[in-house]
Amino acid sequence: MEKALFKVVDVRKQYQMGEVLVPALRDVSLEVREGEFLVVLGPSGSGKSTLLNILGGLDAPTSGRVLFRDESLDQYTEHQRTQYRRHHIGFVFQFYNLMPNLTAEENVEMAAEICTNAMKASEALRLVNLTERSTHFPSQLSGGEQQRVAIARAVAKQPEVLLCDEPTGALDFTTGKIVLQVLDDINAAMGTTVIVITHNAVIGDMAHRVIHMKDGCIHEIKENRERKRAEHLEW
Ligand SMILES: Nc1ncnc2c1ncn2[C@@H]1O[C@H](COP(=O)(O)OP(=O)(O)O)[C@@H](O)[C@H]1O
Ligand SMILES: [Mg+2]
Repeated sequence: MEKALFKVVDVRKQYQMGEVLVPALRDVSLEVREGEFLVVLGPSGSGKSTLLNILGGLDAPTSGRVLFRDESLDQYTEHQRTQYRRHHIGFVFQFYNLMPNLTAEENVEMAAEICTNAMKASEALRLVNLTERSTHFPSQLSGGEQQRVAIARAVAKQPEVLLCDEPTGALDFTTGKIVLQVLDDINAAMGTTVIVITHNAVIGDMAHRVIHMKDGCIHEIKENRERKRAEHLEW
């Protein structure tokens, strides 16, 4: 697990808000290892989403470099960036953004259609333990089940990395645990690199490494020597 999937070098990001420059990332350098489960903790406004969006090619740094397998994202054309997001990155957000008029299976299929080496929707739904619900519409599913469909949708593309921005933020405790379990299983079974932003420090126990962000900087990175699988977390 020592190879770097991402190398982030001296990344800064500022947003212009009228007359004011808002610093979102001040000086971030980081290597993300292939196959690792990385948890990002930190208070609201500390730059977590900005960092994740830059890794996913949804946003670009003001300065600094991001390498994905030694390719520099800032050299990509708009078209290459779209291809990058489409084929290499699976996004999971707090809100699931499922199409209400499509079944669980159709939601997953639709996303997989634009990819070349996608897995079958039924297989992706099996990975998140939703085989029995594949013909149900989002309104017939609980929040946690909808989030698992969203994860299946991301995983079906067989991306190298899953970028998850507060995936349990809208879920109750028990459902949130099941969702984390699914992410943990996918990391273990498929070797997918998983990066999860969360407010919940307990989730850090299941990570290989935990990053603490503060004021747009990486405050601390902790290696988790006694990593726990999701089912063994003490909440
Ligand atoms: N699109 C944007 N326009 C202006 N300011 C932004 C934008 N996105 C984020 N920011 C600012 O950048 C800082 C970091 O935001 P963010 O990365 O969303 O933090 P976190 O995810 O840790 O809550 C905050 O001060 C936020 O207000
Ligand atoms: Mg955020």
